[in-house]
Amino acid sequence: MFETSVNPLANLMARIQDRSAVVGIVGLGYVGLPFAAEKGKTGFRVLGFDRNAKRVAQANAGASYIKDVPTETLYSLVRKGLFEATSDLDRLSEVDVVVICVPTPLNRNLMPDLSYVEGSTRAIALRLKPGQLISLESTTYPGTTDELMRPILEAGGLKAGVDFFLAHSPERVDPGNLRYTTKNTSKVVGASDPSSLAAAVAFYNQTIQKVVQVSSARAAELTKVFENTFRAVNIALVNELTLLCDRMGLSVWEVLDAAFTKPFGIMPFYPGPGVGGHCIPLDPHYLEWKAREYNFNTRFIALAGEINRSMPEFVAQKAMRILSDRGMGLRGARVLILGVAYKNDIDDSRESPSAEVLHLLACRGAEIAYHDPHIPSFSERGHHLRSQDLTAERLRQADLVLILTGHTQVDYPLVVAEARVVLDTRNATRHVPGAKPNVILL
Ligand SMILES: NC(=O)c1ccc[n+]([C@@H]2O[C@H](COP(=O)([O-])OP(=O)(O)OC[C@H]3O[C@@H](n4cnc5c(N)ncnc54)[C@H](O)[C@@H]3O)[C@@H](O)[C@H]2O)c1
Repeated sequence: MFETSVNPLANLMARIQDRSAVVGIVGLGYVGLPFAAEKGKTGFRVLGFDRNAKRVAQANAGASYIKDVPTETLYSLVRKGLFEATSDLDRLSEVDVVVICVPTPLNRNLMPDLSYVEGSTRAIALRLKPGQLISLESTTYPGTTDELMRPILEAGGLKAGVDFFLAHSPERVDPGNLRYTTKNTSKVVGASDPSSLAAAVAFYNQTIQKVVQVSSARAAELTKVFENTFRAVNIALVNELTLLCDRMGLSVWEVLDAAFTKPFGIMPFYPGPGVGGHCIPLDPHYLEWKAREYNFNTRFIALAGEINRSMPEFVAQKAMRILSDRGMGLRGARVLILGVAYKNDIDDSRESPSAEVLHLLACRGAEIAYHDPHIPSFSERGHHLRSQDLTAERLRQADLVLILTGHTQVDYPLVVAEARVVLDTRNATRHVPGAKPNVILL
Protein backbone atom coordinates (compact mmCIF):
# COMPACT_ATOMS: atom_id res chain seq x y z
CA MET A 1 0.00 0.00 0.00
CA PHE A 2 1.21 3.51 0.79
CA GLU A 3 4.57 4.47 2.24
CA THR A 4 3.86 5.33 5.91
CA SER A 5 7.24 4.81 7.54
CA VAL A 6 7.83 8.56 7.93
CA ASN A 7 5.46 11.00 9.57
CA PRO A 8 3.93 12.73 6.51
CA LEU A 9 3.42 16.04 8.36
CA ALA A 10 6.93 16.21 9.81
CA ASN A 11 8.42 15.29 6.45
CA LEU A 12 6.41 17.92 4.57
CA MET A 13 7.11 20.61 7.20
CA ALA A 14 10.84 19.94 6.93
CA ARG A 15 10.74 20.22 3.14
CA ILE A 16 8.74 23.44 3.36
CA GLN A 17 11.13 24.95 5.94
CA ASP A 18 14.26 24.18 3.93
CA ARG A 19 12.43 25.08 0.69
CA SER A 20 13.21 21.78 -0.97
CA ALA A 21 9.45 21.16 -1.36
CA VAL A 22 8.36 21.26 -5.00
CA VAL A 23 5.32 23.49 -5.52
CA GLY A 24 2.72 22.62 -8.15
CA ILE A 25 0.34 25.34 -9.28
CA VAL A 26 -2.73 24.30 -11.23
CA GLY A 27 -3.98 27.22 -13.36
CA LEU A 28 -1.40 29.77 -14.52
CA GLY A 29 -3.66 32.80 -14.92
CA TYR A 30 -3.98 36.15 -13.15
CA VAL A 31 -3.67 34.40 -9.78
CA GLY A 32 -1.51 31.38 -10.50
CA LEU A 33 1.35 32.99 -12.45
CA PRO A 34 2.09 35.80 -9.91
CA PHE A 35 1.98 33.22 -7.11
CA ALA A 36 4.34 30.94 -9.05
CA ALA A 37 6.76 33.85 -9.51
CA GLU A 38 6.59 34.73 -5.81
CA LYS A 39 7.32 31.14 -4.76
CA GLY A 40 10.11 30.80 -7.33
CA LYS A 41 11.75 34.03 -6.16
CA THR A 42 12.06 32.62 -2.65
CA GLY A 43 13.86 29.52 -3.90
CA PHE A 44 11.07 26.95 -4.25
CA ARG A 45 11.08 24.90 -7.43
CA VAL A 46 7.70 25.50 -9.07
CA LEU A 47 5.94 23.31 -11.58
CA GLY A 48 3.01 25.13 -13.16
CA PHE A 49 0.12 23.21 -14.75
CA ASP A 50 -2.22 24.66 -17.32
CA ARG A 51 -4.34 23.05 -19.97
CA ASN A 52 -3.87 26.07 -22.23
CA ALA A 53 -0.92 24.96 -24.38
CA LYS A 54 -0.22 28.53 -25.55
CA ARG A 55 0.18 29.75 -21.95
CA VAL A 56 2.43 26.79 -21.15
CA ALA A 57 4.68 27.52 -24.15
CA GLN A 58 4.86 31.23 -23.31
CA ALA A 59 5.61 30.56 -19.64
CA ASN A 60 8.36 28.07 -20.54
CA ALA A 61 9.90 30.67 -22.84
CA GLY A 62 9.96 33.02 -19.83
CA ALA A 63 7.58 35.39 -21.62
CA SER A 64 5.03 36.72 -19.17
CA TYR A 65 1.45 37.19 -20.35
CA ILE A 66 0.29 38.60 -16.99
CA LYS A 67 1.12 42.26 -16.42
CA ASP A 68 1.89 41.87 -12.72
CA VAL A 69 4.69 39.41 -13.52
CA PRO A 70 7.61 41.09 -15.29
CA THR A 71 9.05 39.04 -18.13
CA GLU A 72 12.56 39.50 -16.65
CA THR A 73 11.40 37.80 -13.44
CA LEU A 74 9.81 34.85 -15.21
CA TYR A 75 12.68 34.48 -17.65
CA SER A 76 15.23 34.43 -14.85
CA LEU A 77 13.22 31.80 -12.90
CA VAL A 78 13.01 29.58 -16.00
CA ARG A 79 16.76 29.93 -16.62
CA LYS A 80 17.59 29.04 -13.02
CA GLY A 81 15.39 25.94 -13.27
CA LEU A 82 13.05 27.28 -10.59
CA PHE A 83 10.00 27.44 -12.83
CA GLU A 84 8.64 25.13 -15.47
CA ALA A 85 5.17 24.87 -16.98
CA THR A 86 3.45 21.77 -18.31
CA SER A 87 0.08 20.42 -19.41
CA ASP A 88 1.02 16.92 -18.29
CA LEU A 89 -1.01 16.31 -15.15
CA ASP A 90 0.86 13.06 -14.49
CA ARG A 91 3.66 15.29 -13.25
CA LEU A 92 1.47 16.18 -10.25
CA SER A 93 3.14 13.19 -8.64
CA GLU A 94 6.43 15.17 -8.62
CA VAL A 95 5.17 17.93 -6.31
CA ASP A 96 4.84 18.23 -2.53
CA VAL A 97 2.32 21.06 -2.49
CA VAL A 98 -0.49 21.61 -4.99
CA VAL A 99 -2.08 25.06 -5.17
CA ILE A 100 -5.28 25.25 -7.20
CA CYS A 101 -5.91 28.56 -8.99
CA VAL A 102 -8.52 27.63 -11.60
CA PRO A 103 -11.55 29.72 -12.58
CA THR A 104 -14.79 29.67 -10.60
CA PRO A 105 -17.30 31.29 -12.97
CA LEU A 106 -21.09 31.37 -12.87
CA ASN A 107 -23.26 29.58 -15.36
CA ARG A 108 -25.96 31.36 -17.37
CA ASN A 109 -28.40 31.13 -14.45
CA LEU A 110 -25.97 32.78 -12.02
CA MET A 111 -25.23 29.42 -10.38
CA PRO A 112 -21.69 28.40 -9.30
CA ASP A 113 -19.78 26.49 -11.95
CA LEU A 114 -17.28 24.39 -10.01
CA SER A 115 -16.38 22.17 -12.95
CA TYR A 116 -12.80 23.53 -13.07
CA VAL A 117 -12.24 22.95 -9.35
CA GLU A 118 -13.81 19.51 -9.54
CA GLY A 119 -11.83 18.59 -12.67
CA SER A 120 -8.50 19.57 -11.14
CA THR A 121 -9.36 17.85 -7.85
CA ARG A 122 -10.07 14.62 -9.73
CA ALA A 123 -6.78 14.96 -11.59
CA ILE A 124 -4.94 15.43 -8.28
CA ALA A 125 -6.83 12.55 -6.62
CA LEU A 126 -5.64 10.14 -9.32
CA ARG A 127 -2.01 10.94 -8.44
CA LEU A 128 -2.32 11.77 -4.74
CA LYS A 129 0.70 10.79 -2.62
CA PRO A 130 1.01 10.64 1.18
CA GLY A 131 2.45 13.86 2.57
CA GLN A 132 1.10 16.20 -0.13
CA LEU A 133 -0.58 19.48 0.79
CA ILE A 134 -3.48 20.56 -1.44
CA SER A 135 -4.53 24.18 -1.12
CA LEU A 136 -7.48 25.67 -2.97
CA GLU A 137 -7.04 29.37 -3.78
CA SER A 138 -9.97 29.81 -6.16
CA THR A 139 -12.79 31.90 -4.76
CA THR A 140 -15.81 29.82 -3.86
CA TYR A 141 -18.71 29.26 -1.47
CA PRO A 142 -18.16 27.94 2.07
CA GLY A 143 -18.07 24.15 1.97
CA THR A 144 -16.28 23.59 -1.35
CA THR A 145 -13.03 22.31 0.17
CA ASP A 146 -14.66 19.99 2.69
CA GLU A 147 -17.81 18.92 0.89
CA LEU A 148 -16.68 18.74 -2.74
CA MET A 149 -12.91 18.23 -2.72
CA ARG A 150 -12.29 16.13 0.37
CA PRO A 151 -14.50 13.15 -0.65
CA ILE A 152 -12.89 13.07 -4.10
CA LEU A 153 -9.39 13.17 -2.62
CA GLU A 154 -10.16 10.59 0.07
CA ALA A 155 -11.79 8.13 -2.33
CA GLY A 156 -8.47 6.37 -2.97
CA GLY A 157 -8.00 5.52 0.71
CA LEU A 158 -5.76 8.34 1.96
CA LYS A 159 -7.20 10.48 4.75
CA ALA A 160 -7.07 14.27 4.94
CA GLY A 161 -5.26 15.53 8.03
CA VAL A 162 -3.46 12.21 8.43
CA ASP A 163 -1.99 11.06 5.13
CA PHE A 164 -2.32 14.25 3.12
CA PHE A 165 -3.29 17.83 3.97
CA LEU A 166 -6.10 19.97 2.66
CA ALA A 167 -6.62 23.70 3.11
CA HIS A 168 -8.28 26.75 1.63
CA SER A 169 -6.40 30.01 1.25
CA PRO A 170 -8.28 32.51 -0.86
CA GLU A 171 -6.26 34.63 -3.25
CA ARG A 172 -6.73 38.36 -2.70
CA VAL A 173 -4.51 39.69 -5.49
CA ASP A 174 -5.61 43.02 -6.93
CA PRO A 175 -4.26 43.08 -10.50
CA GLY A 176 -2.51 46.32 -11.33
CA ASN A 177 -2.14 47.34 -7.68
CA LEU A 178 1.48 48.46 -7.32
CA ARG A 179 1.31 48.94 -3.55
CA TYR A 180 -0.26 45.62 -2.50
CA THR A 181 1.11 42.54 -4.25
CA THR A 182 0.93 38.79 -3.59
CA LYS A 183 3.79 39.13 -1.11
CA ASN A 184 2.57 41.97 1.10
CA THR A 185 -1.17 41.26 1.07
CA SER A 186 -1.98 39.28 4.21
CA LYS A 187 -3.20 35.77 3.46
CA VAL A 188 -6.09 34.02 5.17
CA VAL A 189 -5.56 30.29 5.65
CA GLY A 190 -8.14 27.84 6.95
CA ALA A 191 -8.29 24.07 7.26
CA SER A 192 -10.57 21.73 9.05
CA ASP A 193 -7.94 19.71 10.93
CA PRO A 194 -4.87 20.90 12.89
CA SER A 195 -2.26 19.12 10.74
CA SER A 196 -3.58 20.57 7.48
CA LEU A 197 -3.71 24.02 9.07
CA ALA A 198 -0.14 23.70 10.36
CA ALA A 199 1.15 22.57 6.95
CA ALA A 200 -0.67 25.33 5.05
CA VAL A 201 0.40 28.06 7.48
CA ALA A 202 4.02 26.89 7.25
CA PHE A 203 3.80 26.90 3.45
CA TYR A 204 2.36 30.40 3.10
CA ASN A 205 4.62 31.80 5.85
CA GLN A 206 7.60 31.17 3.57
CA THR A 207 6.56 33.80 1.04
CA ILE A 208 3.74 35.95 2.38
CA GLN A 209 4.48 38.65 4.92
CA LYS A 210 1.45 37.98 7.13
CA VAL A 211 -0.62 34.82 7.40
CA VAL A 212 -3.98 34.98 9.18
CA GLN A 213 -5.26 31.64 10.48
CA VAL A 214 -8.92 30.74 10.74
CA SER A 215 -10.30 27.56 12.23
CA SER A 216 -11.82 25.93 9.15
CA ALA A 217 -11.72 25.91 5.39
CA ARG A 218 -15.32 27.14 5.40
CA ALA A 219 -14.37 30.21 7.44
CA ALA A 220 -11.60 31.01 4.96
CA GLU A 221 -13.98 30.54 2.04
CA LEU A 222 -16.58 32.80 3.61
CA THR A 223 -13.96 35.45 4.44
CA LYS A 224 -13.11 35.90 0.78
CA VAL A 225 -16.69 35.94 -0.48
CA PHE A 226 -17.57 38.41 2.23
CA GLU A 227 -14.74 40.75 1.15
CA ASN A 228 -16.00 40.82 -2.40
CA THR A 229 -19.60 41.14 -1.27
CA PHE A 230 -18.55 44.13 0.83
CA ARG A 231 -17.18 45.79 -2.29
CA ALA A 232 -20.19 44.87 -4.43
CA VAL A 233 -22.62 46.27 -1.85
CA ASN A 234 -20.73 49.51 -1.30
CA ILE A 235 -20.27 50.09 -5.03
CA ALA A 236 -24.02 49.49 -5.41
CA LEU A 237 -24.68 52.04 -2.67
CA VAL A 238 -22.75 54.78 -4.49
CA ASN A 239 -24.26 53.71 -7.79
CA GLU A 240 -27.74 54.07 -6.31
CA LEU A 241 -26.77 57.50 -4.97
CA THR A 242 -25.67 58.36 -8.52
CA LEU A 243 -29.10 57.49 -9.88
CA LEU A 244 -30.72 59.68 -7.24
CA CYS A 245 -28.30 62.58 -7.79
CA ASP A 246 -29.06 62.44 -11.50
CA ARG A 247 -32.73 63.04 -10.75
CA MET A 248 -31.99 65.69 -8.12
CA GLY A 249 -29.60 67.58 -10.37
CA LEU A 250 -26.72 67.14 -7.92
CA SER A 251 -23.18 65.97 -8.66
CA VAL A 252 -22.56 62.65 -6.94
CA TRP A 253 -18.82 63.28 -7.25
CA GLU A 254 -19.02 66.50 -5.29
CA VAL A 255 -21.11 64.81 -2.59
CA LEU A 256 -18.74 61.82 -2.34
CA ASP A 257 -15.61 64.00 -2.28
CA ALA A 258 -17.13 65.96 0.59
CA ALA A 259 -18.29 62.81 2.43
CA PHE A 260 -14.87 61.16 2.16
CA THR A 261 -13.19 64.05 3.98
CA LYS A 262 -14.62 62.57 7.20
CA PRO A 263 -11.62 60.89 8.82
CA PHE A 264 -13.59 58.02 10.39
CA GLY A 265 -16.67 55.90 9.84
CA ILE A 266 -16.63 56.06 6.03
CA MET A 267 -14.42 54.76 3.25
CA PRO A 268 -14.18 55.68 -0.42
CA PHE A 269 -16.13 53.83 -3.08
CA TYR A 270 -16.90 55.36 -6.47
CA PRO A 271 -19.68 54.95 -8.99
CA GLY A 272 -19.20 53.76 -12.54
CA PRO A 273 -20.85 52.07 -15.50
CA GLY A 274 -21.23 48.80 -13.57
CA VAL A 275 -18.88 46.25 -12.02
CA GLY A 276 -16.58 43.92 -13.91
CA GLY A 277 -13.76 41.45 -13.55
CA HIS A 278 -13.76 37.91 -12.37
CA CYS A 279 -14.59 38.65 -8.75
CA ILE A 280 -17.04 41.38 -7.75
CA PRO A 281 -19.86 40.52 -10.18
CA LEU A 282 -19.54 36.78 -9.58
CA ASP A 283 -18.39 35.85 -6.10
CA PRO A 284 -21.35 37.21 -4.08
CA HIS A 285 -23.60 34.90 -6.09
CA TYR A 286 -21.62 31.92 -4.82
CA LEU A 287 -22.67 32.90 -1.32
CA GLU A 288 -26.22 33.69 -2.39
CA TRP A 289 -26.51 30.19 -3.88
CA LYS A 290 -25.08 28.44 -0.81
CA ALA A 291 -27.27 30.46 1.58
CA ARG A 292 -30.36 28.96 -0.05
CA GLU A 293 -29.34 25.59 1.37
CA TYR A 294 -29.89 27.19 4.77
CA ASN A 295 -33.24 28.64 3.73
CA PHE A 296 -31.63 32.09 3.88
CA ASN A 297 -31.96 34.97 1.43
CA THR A 298 -28.89 37.19 1.13
CA ARG A 299 -30.89 40.31 0.37
CA PHE A 300 -27.98 42.76 0.19
CA ILE A 301 -26.31 40.59 -2.45
CA ALA A 302 -29.44 40.40 -4.57
CA LEU A 303 -30.05 44.14 -4.33
CA ALA A 304 -26.42 45.06 -5.02
CA GLY A 305 -26.41 42.79 -8.07
CA GLU A 306 -29.61 44.37 -9.33
CA ILE A 307 -28.31 47.94 -8.96
CA ASN A 308 -24.86 47.25 -10.37
CA ARG A 309 -26.27 45.38 -13.34
CA SER A 310 -28.62 48.30 -14.08
CA MET A 311 -25.76 50.78 -14.53
CA PRO A 312 -24.90 50.04 -18.18
CA GLU A 313 -28.51 50.78 -19.14
CA PHE A 314 -28.36 54.00 -17.11
CA VAL A 315 -25.18 55.02 -18.96
CA ALA A 316 -26.79 54.21 -22.32
CA GLN A 317 -29.88 56.26 -21.41
CA LYS A 318 -27.74 59.17 -20.27
CA ALA A 319 -25.78 59.03 -23.53
CA MET A 320 -29.07 59.19 -25.45
CA ARG A 321 -30.23 62.18 -23.38
CA ILE A 322 -26.98 64.02 -24.06
CA LEU A 323 -27.27 63.43 -27.79
CA SER A 324 -30.96 64.35 -27.76
CA ASP A 325 -30.14 67.65 -26.00
CA ARG A 326 -27.92 68.34 -29.01
CA GLY A 327 -30.67 67.49 -31.45
CA MET A 328 -29.39 64.03 -32.31
CA GLY A 329 -30.63 60.50 -31.94
CA LEU A 330 -28.47 57.51 -31.10
CA ARG A 331 -29.03 55.93 -34.51
CA GLY A 332 -26.08 56.81 -36.68
CA ALA A 333 -24.34 58.75 -33.89
CA ARG A 334 -20.56 58.22 -33.73
CA VAL A 335 -19.64 57.20 -30.20
CA LEU A 336 -16.00 56.87 -29.20
CA ILE A 337 -15.61 54.72 -26.08
CA LEU A 338 -12.50 55.29 -23.97
CA GLY A 339 -11.66 52.17 -21.99
CA VAL A 340 -12.99 48.64 -22.28
CA ALA A 341 -10.97 47.07 -19.45
CA TYR A 342 -13.11 46.47 -16.39
CA LYS A 343 -11.01 48.84 -14.30
CA ASN A 344 -8.19 51.36 -14.60
CA ASP A 345 -4.74 50.45 -15.81
CA ILE A 346 -5.23 46.73 -16.39
CA ASP A 347 -5.50 44.62 -19.54
CA ASP A 348 -8.42 42.48 -18.39
CA SER A 349 -11.83 42.97 -20.00
CA ARG A 350 -13.59 39.95 -18.46
CA GLU A 351 -17.14 40.82 -17.39
CA SER A 352 -16.37 44.45 -18.23
CA PRO A 353 -19.44 46.69 -18.06
CA SER A 354 -18.06 48.35 -21.21
CA ALA A 355 -19.20 45.27 -23.15
CA GLU A 356 -22.80 45.77 -22.06
CA VAL A 357 -22.75 49.54 -22.66
CA LEU A 358 -21.20 49.02 -26.10
CA HIS A 359 -23.81 46.38 -26.91
CA LEU A 360 -26.73 48.56 -25.78
CA LEU A 361 -25.52 51.52 -27.84
CA ALA A 362 -24.68 49.43 -30.91
CA CYS A 363 -28.06 47.65 -30.80
CA ARG A 364 -29.74 51.05 -30.90
CA GLY A 365 -27.87 52.06 -34.02
CA ALA A 366 -24.80 53.94 -32.74
CA GLU A 367 -21.54 53.60 -34.64
CA ILE A 368 -18.99 52.55 -32.05
CA ALA A 369 -15.22 52.88 -32.02
CA TYR A 370 -13.02 52.47 -28.98
CA HIS A 371 -9.61 53.33 -27.63
CA ASP A 372 -7.96 51.37 -24.85
CA PRO A 373 -4.17 51.48 -24.44
CA HIS A 374 -4.25 48.09 -22.68
CA ILE A 375 -6.69 46.15 -24.88
CA PRO A 376 -5.75 46.09 -28.57
CA SER A 377 -8.83 44.17 -29.66
CA PHE A 378 -12.20 43.52 -28.11
CA SER A 379 -14.63 40.76 -29.00
CA GLU A 380 -17.70 40.71 -26.83
CA ARG A 381 -21.33 39.86 -27.43
CA GLY A 382 -20.90 39.57 -31.18
CA HIS A 383 -18.95 42.84 -31.55
CA HIS A 384 -15.39 42.62 -32.84
CA LEU A 385 -13.43 45.86 -32.66
CA ARG A 386 -9.84 47.03 -32.66
CA SER A 387 -8.56 49.84 -30.50
CA GLN A 388 -8.15 53.11 -32.44
CA ASP A 389 -5.39 55.63 -31.88
CA LEU A 390 -6.53 58.58 -29.81
CA THR A 391 -6.05 61.57 -32.08
CA ALA A 392 -7.46 65.09 -32.08
CA GLU A 393 -9.21 64.35 -35.36
CA ARG A 394 -10.86 61.18 -34.07
CA LEU A 395 -12.04 63.03 -30.98
CA ARG A 396 -13.44 65.89 -33.04
CA GLN A 397 -15.28 63.48 -35.32
CA ALA A 398 -17.14 61.74 -32.50
CA ASP A 399 -20.64 62.92 -31.66
CA LEU A 400 -20.03 61.64 -28.14
CA VAL A 401 -16.90 60.56 -26.30
CA LEU A 402 -17.80 58.10 -23.57
CA ILE A 403 -15.23 57.41 -20.85
CA LEU A 404 -15.94 53.97 -19.37
CA THR A 405 -12.53 53.18 -17.83
CA GLY A 406 -10.28 55.84 -16.33
CA HIS A 407 -6.87 54.56 -17.52
CA THR A 408 -4.24 56.99 -16.27
CA GLN A 409 -2.19 56.99 -19.48
CA VAL A 410 -5.01 58.46 -21.59
CA ASP A 411 -4.39 62.07 -22.61
CA TYR A 412 -7.43 63.62 -20.90
CA PRO A 413 -6.41 67.25 -21.58
CA LEU A 414 -6.51 66.32 -25.30
CA VAL A 415 -9.91 64.65 -24.84
CA VAL A 416 -11.37 67.71 -23.12
CA ALA A 417 -9.79 70.10 -25.61
CA GLU A 418 -10.97 68.30 -28.74
CA ALA A 419 -14.16 66.36 -27.99
CA ARG A 420 -17.49 67.99 -28.71
CA VAL A 421 -19.11 66.38 -25.69
CA VAL A 422 -17.81 63.86 -23.17
CA LEU A 423 -19.80 61.60 -20.86
CA ASP A 424 -17.30 60.76 -18.14
CA THR A 425 -18.52 57.83 -16.04
CA ARG A 426 -15.31 57.65 -13.96
CA ASN A 427 -14.52 61.31 -13.32
CA ALA A 428 -11.30 60.64 -15.22
CA THR A 429 -11.18 64.25 -16.39
CA ARG A 430 -11.11 65.46 -12.80
CA HIS A 431 -7.51 66.71 -13.00
CA VAL A 432 -7.80 68.50 -16.32
CA PRO A 433 -7.51 72.17 -15.33
CA GLY A 434 -9.88 74.90 -16.39
CA ALA A 435 -13.55 75.05 -17.28
CA LYS A 436 -14.94 71.90 -18.91
CA PRO A 437 -18.37 72.82 -20.28
CA ASN A 438 -18.26 69.89 -22.73
CA VAL A 439 -17.78 67.30 -19.94
CA ILE A 440 -20.80 65.70 -18.31
CA LEU A 441 -20.14 63.44 -15.34
CA LEU A 442 -22.15 60.30 -14.58
N1 LIG B 1 -8.17 37.68 -11.29
C1 LIG B 1 -8.27 38.17 -10.07
O1 LIG B 1 -8.09 39.36 -9.85
C2 LIG B 1 -8.58 37.28 -8.89
C3 LIG B 1 -8.33 37.77 -7.61
C4 LIG B 1 -8.57 36.96 -6.52
C5 LIG B 1 -9.10 35.69 -6.73
N2 LIG B 1 -9.38 35.24 -7.98
C6 LIG B 1 -9.93 33.89 -8.14
O2 LIG B 1 -8.86 33.02 -8.51
C7 LIG B 1 -9.34 32.00 -9.37
C8 LIG B 1 -8.55 32.02 -10.67
O3 LIG B 1 -8.76 33.25 -11.31
P1 LIG B 1 -7.82 33.81 -12.46
O4 LIG B 1 -8.24 35.22 -12.67
O5 LIG B 1 -6.40 33.52 -12.16
O6 LIG B 1 -8.31 32.91 -13.70
P2 LIG B 1 -7.63 32.81 -15.15
O7 LIG B 1 -8.71 32.46 -16.09
O8 LIG B 1 -6.77 34.02 -15.40
O9 LIG B 1 -6.63 31.56 -15.01
C9 LIG B 1 -7.08 30.27 -14.78
C10 LIG B 1 -6.17 29.31 -15.53
O10 LIG B 1 -6.56 27.98 -15.18
C11 LIG B 1 -6.40 27.16 -16.32
N3 LIG B 1 -7.17 25.95 -16.09
C12 LIG B 1 -8.50 25.81 -16.02
N4 LIG B 1 -8.83 24.53 -15.72
C13 LIG B 1 -7.66 23.86 -15.59
C14 LIG B 1 -7.35 22.52 -15.28
N5 LIG B 1 -8.30 21.61 -15.02
N6 LIG B 1 -6.06 22.17 -15.22
C15 LIG B 1 -5.08 23.08 -15.48
N7 LIG B 1 -5.33 24.39 -15.75
C16 LIG B 1 -6.61 24.76 -15.81
C17 LIG B 1 -6.87 28.03 -17.45
O11 LIG B 1 -6.37 27.59 -18.69
C18 LIG B 1 -6.31 29.41 -17.05
O12 LIG B 1 -5.02 29.63 -17.61
C19 LIG B 1 -10.83 32.26 -9.54
O13 LIG B 1 -11.53 31.53 -8.58
C20 LIG B 1 -10.97 33.75 -9.24
O14 LIG B 1 -12.24 34.08 -8.77
C21 LIG B 1 -9.09 36.01 -9.08
